Amino acid sequence: MKKEINKILDTAQKEIPECQNLDSLEALRIKYTGKKSDLHSLLSQIGNLPPEQRPEMGKILNITKNKIQKLLTHKKEELQAQSQKRVAQKNKIDITMSGRPVEIGAKHPLYKIWDEIEDIFSRLGFEVAEGPEIETDYYNFDALNTPEDHPARNLQDTFYLKNGNLLRTQTSPVQIRVMENNKPPIKIISPGRCYRNDKVDASHSPVFHQVEALVVGEDVSFPDLKGTLDSFVKTMFGSNIRSRFRPHFFPFTEPSAEIDILCVNCNGKGCKLCKNSGWLEMGGAGMVDPAVFENVGYDTEKYTGFAFGLGIDRITMLKYGISDMRLLFQNDLRILKQFS
Ligand code: DAH
Repeated sequence: MKKEINKILDTAQKEIPECQNLDSLEALRIKYTGKKSDLHSLLSQIGNLPPEQRPEMGKILNITKNKIQKLLTHKKEELQAQSQKRVAQKNKIDITMSGRPVEIGAKHPLYKIWDEIEDIFSRLGFEVAEGPEIETDYYNFDALNTPEDHPARNLQDTFYLKNGNLLRTQTSPVQIRVMENNKPPIKIISPGRCYRNDKVDASHSPVFHQVEALVVGEDVSFPDLKGTLDSFVKTMFGSNIRSRFRPHFFPFTEPSAEIDILCVNCNGKGCKLCKNSGWLEMGGAGMVDPAVFENVGYDTEKYTGFAFGLGIDRITMLKYGISDMRLLFQNDLRILKQFS
């Protein structure tokens, strides 16, 4: 029996240290120490030995089993350490490796101008106000003194939603929302998206952008309107670019005017861009109609105000020499990359 025991220990001492992975080590553990192992069957044969040999054999068997168990434990630790090291190596971050190139986007030209507009007006003391793009008839039309039969309310011009609301056709409703929630003095601009049921062409898009301005106070006058607009136009387009008013009608202002600026392309000499008129249309303006003040509960004896609305798309196109409005919405990278 001693011989057999020694043989088992010998092969275990050879096999276990040479083991390459945890799976085969587990197989060896079963082979040498499991229920069906040789060692185990020898242990169960001890009872068949003459009684005086039993203690010695039992002792030898136990010592051998312990030795094998130690070998197994030692090997297991070694293999586990190796595999941990491999994982660590795999996950190691090589900080000297050059990174993947990151494509840095650029601001869309329209939003560059949007930002610039906010900058210019905030330097003139204006705050930026926001309003929803889905509006009610009340804010988009009624409160702005636009009667039921006004052509702008036509289904053909306005996108109505099933629930009776609409996509705002102008940023002017923000005027009402601001006045409802604030007392004068008021000095805000509100840039934003607007929607009209227009066919797409070089100068029309069903989605477009306006910037609204509203100033209300005790002595706000028409010259304040003219001065503010002139100062904006000169900062945006250059000190030689004058602005002018042409009489017009808007339901929410009285008097009302359309704003022109000197053609930025020909400086007023006349060219294709300005259709030889020397002037470019920029938007509408006027003194807030007292009927609008009444709708928001302002004292029409005490307060006066001016308002205007300009096309941000138009300003962007003039500023960058873009001749077709569609280029602002098609997101053609060949175009947009020129603004990065
Ligand atoms: N909301 C007008 C439009 O979309 C533009 C406008 C005209 C805005 C006169 C104003 C204004 O604030 O006073 O055609």
